[in-house]
Amino acid sequence: MPIASSLQKGLKVPVIAAPMFIVSGLELVTATCKAGVIGTFPTLNARSIEDLDTWMATIKADLADYDAANPESPSAVWGVNLIVHKSNTRLQEDIELVLKHQPPLVITSVGHPGDIVEKVHAYGGQVYHDVIHMYHAGKAASAGVDGIIAVCSGAGGHAGKLNPFAFIPELRATYPELSIILSGTLSNGAHIKAAEILGADFAYMGTRFIATKEANADEDYHRQIHENGSSDIIYTNKVSGIWGNFIKESLEMAGLDPETGDPLKDSPNFAPSQENSRGGGTKKAWKSIYSAGQGIALIEDSPTVKDLIEQMAAEYNA
Ligand SMILES: Cc1cc2nc3c(=O)[nH]c(=O)nc-3n(C[C@H](O)[C@H](O)[C@H](O)COP(=O)(O)O)c2cc1C
Repeated sequence: MPIASSLQKGLKVPVIAAPMFIVSGLELVTATCKAGVIGTFPTLNARSIEDLDTWMATIKADLADYDAANPESPSAVWGVNLIVHKSNTRLQEDIELVLKHQPPLVITSVGHPGDIVEKVHAYGGQVYHDVIHMYHAGKAASAGVDGIIAVCSGAGGHAGKLNPFAFIPELRATYPELSIILSGTLSNGAHIKAAEILGADFAYMGTRFIATKEANADEDYHRQIHENGSSDIIYTNKVSGIWGNFIKESLEMAGLDPETGDPLKDSPNFAPSQENSRGGGTKKAWKSIYSAGQGIALIEDSPTVKDLIEQMAAEYNA
């Protein structure tokens, strides 16, 4: 299925900058949209419900100002990510703000999209749901989502285990009426083209956007992305309780076994509170135990978002 026309506005390449806990803030989202790629953030990155209200109002106003000043080259649209798992106690309040500010794209993850789909459709928004295998894709399709994000092997964050060469064509054939989005290890313009050839409508890129000037990521996170390769990414459920990918060096620095993520009591970096809290204490999951996808192998710089997207567009068109 082609990309819905409401999501095509201002798009320079068929890319969504994926929502990332802590990393995706206002600056990254607005810079991404202005450069011609859909910018998104997890609603929980805004500390309080009041902050979230301000964030959404700010994004809308900033992009509207940009579009007024650049009618020839308007911004791409923005989106939010709702964690629909029952552990998210703020979900209902966040949904109310989604209905108030009406982001064109709503991405649901870690659960079932449920009645969010109907509510977002009522204002003309699109809902994409992320999945790691066919079973949950079926559930999401039954709930009426517009797109399925296939979170494949090697992705940053809570990655799946399926190879995109198998998963994308299977999704494409099973759901010809839905948008299919490929997530995992995509880092350049050739990857975007490859995703399309496989049958995806959008490339979904996380880690590549961590290494940008606008990301909310500290210097050491950038360095570890630049200096490490695909074999330095460890797939473990010991950090957050769900299987995900983390940079080996950061596991080691947190006093965790760099191969498994298990706490290492005899490590000089071990903090006692990690024993029960899977990387608590001074070294925290996501904050200083860095998540990244295997695509770090191809990332050696931290340009501005604008330069990155211009470069990827040139590679994609070439
Ligand atoms: C640091 C980090 C945090 C993430 N946080 C979230 C999140 O809060 N919600 C979500 O749906 N996905 C999250 N993801 C997954 C991304 O949205 C996306 O699926 C993934 O980054 C794509 O793989 P790539 O990093 O190899 O490009 C996160 C990924 C990373 C690297």
